[in-house]
Amino acid sequence: MCGIFGMIRQSPFSSNELLQGLKRLEYRGYDSFGFASNTGELTKHIGSISDFIDKINQSEATTGISHTRWATHGGVTLQNSHPHSDCNERFFVVHNGIIENYEELKNELLSRGHVFKSQTDTEVIPHFIEEHVKSGLSIEDAIKMFIKISKGTFAVLLMEKNKNIIYAMKRDSPLVLGLMKDGFAIASDIYAFSNITNRVIFFDDNEYAIINQNDFGIYDSYGKQIKKDFMTFSWNKEENLGNYEHYMIKEIIEEPVAIERLINSLNNEQHDTVEKISSLIKIRKVLFVACGTAYHASLLGTSFLRFAGINADAVIASEYQNYMADKNTCVIAVSQSGETMDVIKALQAARASSAVICSIVNVPHSTIERMSSLSINIKAGQEICVASTKVFTGQAAAILYLSGAKIVTLQKLLDSVIKQKDVIKKISEDLCKARDIYVLGKSEGYALAREIALKIKEISYIHAEGMMAGELKHGTIALIEPGVPVISIIFNNNEDMISSTKETEARGADIFAITNKPYPGKWNFVIDSEDKKLFFIAAGTVGQLIAYYTAKALGRPIDKPRNLAKSVTVK
Ligand code: AGP
Repeated sequence: MCGIFGMIRQSPFSSNELLQGLKRLEYRGYDSFGFASNTGELTKHIGSISDFIDKINQSEATTGISHTRWATHGGVTLQNSHPHSDCNERFFVVHNGIIENYEELKNELLSRGHVFKSQTDTEVIPHFIEEHVKSGLSIEDAIKMFIKISKGTFAVLLMEKNKNIIYAMKRDSPLVLGLMKDGFAIASDIYAFSNITNRVIFFDDNEYAIINQNDFGIYDSYGKQIKKDFMTFSWNKEENLGNYEHYMIKEIIEEPVAIERLINSLNNEQHDTVEKISSLIKIRKVLFVACGTAYHASLLGTSFLRFAGINADAVIASEYQNYMADKNTCVIAVSQSGETMDVIKALQAARASSAVICSIVNVPHSTIERMSSLSINIKAGQEICVASTKVFTGQAAAILYLSGAKIVTLQKLLDSVIKQKDVIKKISEDLCKARDIYVLGKSEGYALAREIALKIKEISYIHAEGMMAGELKHGTIALIEPGVPVISIIFNNNEDMISSTKETEARGADIFAITNKPYPGKWNFVIDSEDKKLFFIAAGTVGQLIAYYTAKALGRPIDKPRNLAKSVTVK
């Protein structure tokens, strides 16, 4: 997680300009932020940039580096906020990733008299550079040495006090250089500077760069200069809140339009890609690799593909090591951000075993898209709320489309669900009083049960468990007491679902049914669809609205829930 952003320009820029770029990376973490400039300024704050940007004293500089943090090593404190520096405050470093052998490096540096001020893994970097420069190496050679002996992942920007140079290095964590009229921007992703330039160079692993106000060089880990051409990218329009209270509700309401855009694109500009992936998956085993909500879309997708006679499975990316892929496997990574480290690591392993790599992403030009032979973009537009909603619906729809099913009526169905959002709002005023919520589903409904429970947990902070309905009686039913809410996803009066639901009701549970035929529980939400697959996609939207209104009733910070980040770029 964490976002890094640096600028080096011929004419001075304000700290506000630097922070505006950093603010665009805030979705990568918002525990704390900080920046350093060539004029000696070093500023750090706990909390998110948005809350401080107007209060920061303005200063001007020609070189600056900045960081927005999602804490991994060390608590959320000023000392642990980036930039970090060496003993003499000569080198300043911002870092995204994890230096896995930092304890070993730190002990070595401590034994040489270095004094550490933070509990972070990052702080070893400036001390390491200081130590090796003291012993006679150039800064560049010290960087090469660091790349050689460090383990783990990093995108690092380093600057020297009073100097107009930015050094950068990268392994696994993303890093991209942007060309500006009077200098360069460098960041975790292109979004940081997509309002300034669309000419970029993506770094590959174990490369480093030396950038001054007029020029730059990119080198491999042996110091050999690499020639890389700038590429240009196009970017979707930027989103703003408009009259909505939260991005989450705006993004849910956008779902029908986003689905219409997706279907158009799959039928037209992405038609060839769809055809190629469809041919691949007919003759190969499909293995979806994803995390969180994208995993739940994949799980739903496996049912869609199996129904179409395609052999499909889904694995949580961080558990990929337990799966065997080979040249007969088509690994499909599903990811909103296209930057999730667990997914990237799984794809690296899949690539090593000669599997074909495809992906379904939302953010264009992302690492996962660039790692794939074929990639479908779900065209949901920017998703700003940390909790994924319109992208989940788009991912599920894209997989359903790949299975050959018709999805033209999905847009109308989602419209009809959203029109009834006040019904859901009312019931959520009840649900928000719960300590625990159980969500039950079967088959496709199980994926939805997991997704709805995740949505409730991440934004309302109520404990929720998404379960296979038939599994409940094998243990978890012990937790059902009078008044415990059970959300049951029942399509066409499915007998197994009804039995499991009744079993909880017999123990006093309050039943909240998401169904297409009324169920006599405490509350029903009826989705008007006889199409099983579309019903389950629409049930996701109902669950998103339940989570939203429950969190709203509790006054939670819906778009930026505690401890989370939109893009999870560490293992
Ligand atoms: C979504 O609501 C979650 N915040 C999270 O589970 C997310 O889906 C997961 O981290 C995967 O992210 P990705 O789609 O960007 O790969």
